[in-house]
Amino acid sequence: MHRTLTIESTEKVGQKIRLSGWVNTIRSHGKIAFLDLRDRAGMVQVVFPPNSLGMVEDLKSEWVVEIVGEVKKRPENMINDEIPTGTIEVAAESVEVLSESKTPPFDVDTDGKEVSEELRMKYRYIDMRRDRIQRNLRKRHEIAHFFRNFLTDEGFVEVETPILTKSTPEGARDFLVPSRKQAGHFYALPQSPQQYKQLLMVGGIEKYFQFARCFRDEDIRADRQAEFTQLDMEVSFMSRDEILELVEKMYISIIKNLFPEKRIKEVPFPRIPYKEAIKKYNSDRPDLREESDELAFAFVVDFPMFEKVDNGWRSEHHPFTMPVEDDPEKIKKNPGDVLAHQYDLVLNGNEIGGGSIRSHRPEILEAVFEVLGHNKKEIREKFGHLLDAFEYGAPPHGGIAFGFERFLMVMFGEENIREVMAFPKTGDGRGLMMGTPSADLVKDQLDELHIKIINKNEK
Ligand code: AMO
Repeated sequence: MHRTLTIESTEKVGQKIRLSGWVNTIRSHGKIAFLDLRDRAGMVQVVFPPNSLGMVEDLKSEWVVEIVGEVKKRPENMINDEIPTGTIEVAAESVEVLSESKTPPFDVDTDGKEVSEELRMKYRYIDMRRDRIQRNLRKRHEIAHFFRNFLTDEGFVEVETPILTKSTPEGARDFLVPSRKQAGHFYALPQSPQQYKQLLMVGGIEKYFQFARCFRDEDIRADRQAEFTQLDMEVSFMSRDEILELVEKMYISIIKNLFPEKRIKEVPFPRIPYKEAIKKYNSDRPDLREESDELAFAFVVDFPMFEKVDNGWRSEHHPFTMPVEDDPEKIKKNPGDVLAHQYDLVLNGNEIGGGSIRSHRPEILEAVFEVLGHNKKEIREKFGHLLDAFEYGAPPHGGIAFGFERFLMVMFGEENIREVMAFPKTGDGRGLMMGTPSADLVKDQLDELHIKIINKNEK
């Protein structure tokens, strides 16, 4: 007999079926017992009449079982409207235990908000059995699938870019990986695929996207993780407005198809110059909602290119953004006056994406790096590959990257980014389930990597 999913049982009234899953709860009423069986599709009630009570006696929550029984319509007064299988129940004929479970550290029957974060993360594989996390992970997949299909239909190609790479400035610290073969050399994990996607444009791909893992060694917050996913895009030969229109079409389409119950406040999405956003809302990611259940998208545009810091200038976005001023001398003379071809996508007060039209002219890129305080030698060392590439027929190009989890957080009404990720890290960057980062490296491993650990006290 094939396995039947709990949700399919409603269509099999009068038939004998085989169910597999976890014991959610057992309620024993003396002569009769009820077991809620849970699988990936939901839950179904299994009944044990007096002559089969022996079958449930030893069972406990979270044991994995296989149950054979007959699907029966519930009497009218027993119908439960709250679950999709509430019209039927399964009369058990046999139970086989496939795997026992220790007493779980917490209930999975709740939304989990009453359990400490530490405990939830340590036992994430149990925590994710709860309905809320199951729904979040499944919907996450549906949304990723939709984006992939949408972009594929628009002629985009998904290309994977290296994880072992070289530092790209996105404003955070890099995670470094020591090289065994090149003593004293390190790879950096990508803060984003920024330079690779631009090189793909020089390579003639024209329309690129990727669900890209990004790594930033920065302080973790409710909407920020050290390791996160971007829906990353880059296109050649498209104007800023064409890019924004495509982004708008993509988000309208996803809301219409996957969240038909939600209302977008304003279409086309308003385009607010940075200056106006700051003046009017005192924020570069204003929340434009009037009613709480609206989706208020907006593009913030016309950002300044540079931001003044103590020892000079830093990029407002990143140095690859095209300045509106295209005279390298003027850029170097008055950095504070230069605007950038940069845009952010904001949703309900959250920055869910950011991008720009890029400088594909080497002399402009060099001027920008100079303003940022790099000397000519450093520019060659760090970005020579990109400057070289731009000498071989670089198309005008631009792109954007969306914080995938940020979007999910807003859409699912979650307050912490952890709730939309399978295996997130804690606030101080630890993976409590696996015990990462770990210090249990063997001496040989460190020797091979030419690394010596110096205790703080020894320094
Ligand atoms: P940016 O740095 O603005 O741009 O990142 C794009 C979007 O990624 C999300 N994001 C994060 N999400 C979770 N945790 C983090 N630590 C985190 N950091 C950023 C935000 C943000 O808007 N390469 C450029 C994009 C481009 O120019 O095309 C980039 O990475 O939602």
